[in-house]
Amino acid sequence: MIAIRDVSVSFGGVLALNNLTVNLADSVVGIIGPNGAGKTTLLNVFSGFVTPACGSIRAFDTDLLAMRPHQRARWGLRRSFQTEQVVDDLSVADNVRAMLDSLPVTSRSERERQIEKALTYVQLEGKADELGSALNTYQRRMVELAKTLVGSPRIVLLDEPGAGLREEEVDALRQTILGIGEQFGAMTLLIDHDVEMIAATCISTVVLDFGELLAFGPTAEILKDDRVKAAYLGIEEAE
Ligand SMILES: Nc1ncnc2c1ncn2[C@@H]1O[C@H](COP(=O)(O)OP(=O)(O)OP(=O)(O)O)[C@@H](O)[C@H]1O
Ligand SMILES: [Mg+2]
Repeated sequence: MIAIRDVSVSFGGVLALNNLTVNLADSVVGIIGPNGAGKTTLLNVFSGFVTPACGSIRAFDTDLLAMRPHQRARWGLRRSFQTEQVVDDLSVADNVRAMLDSLPVTSRSERERQIEKALTYVQLEGKADELGSALNTYQRRMVELAKTLVGSPRIVLLDEPGAGLREEEVDALRQTILGIGEQFGAMTLLIDHDVEMIAATCISTVVLDFGELLAFGPTAEILKDDRVKAAYLGIEEAE
């Protein structure tokens, strides 16, 4: 369970998050909203890239914001980025291994076991020795995902992992996200503009609009909400 209380972030005059208060409890929670709504900013507050002006986040009874970013990673916070961060001249396995370097996984055999489990889970076990540069867009996304799954994750934050993927790739991504809770024991927060993806994976969904909580609840109900539809129609017209 994650309790977000009164979290505000401003960049100059822009209120990117305005007193956000919401409790998240489901295994996969969606975060949606138009461009600039504050979705990535919220993940940045979780991971420590952005320090909020006020507010708190308690995650599984731990004061997340009291920890420094590297402590949050050790605690089990993981994220993928809106622009993927795969290193071209490292092998696939080394890209994942680099993530484990800063985490307290003691034995070498345990590290290797976790890397293999994560790569197998994202169906890249046959690519472990290939360079990052040899991968296509989907495979790069999967490496990015595998990096979030090593070192006993507790919370996995995914920022538009489906961006730029083809339909059948999005289907595979969907299945992959759905299994994270069971396979790795982590809760997932998923930002995506693809409403079908959100509907198929997220039990509950947060809707942000101009840094405000526009709506929160079971995903099916949220997606039927007229205010939410209006916010989305806004972006569909704009894109
Ligand atoms: N580092 C920053 N400096 C200044 N303004 C920022 C910064 N990061 C975000 N913002 C502003 O804060 C607001 C929220 O941005 P954010 O990136 O969180 O939106 P988002 O919901 O992730 O949008 P998108 O769907 O386009 O990714 C926007 O107005 C954005 O321009
Ligand atoms: Mg964003």
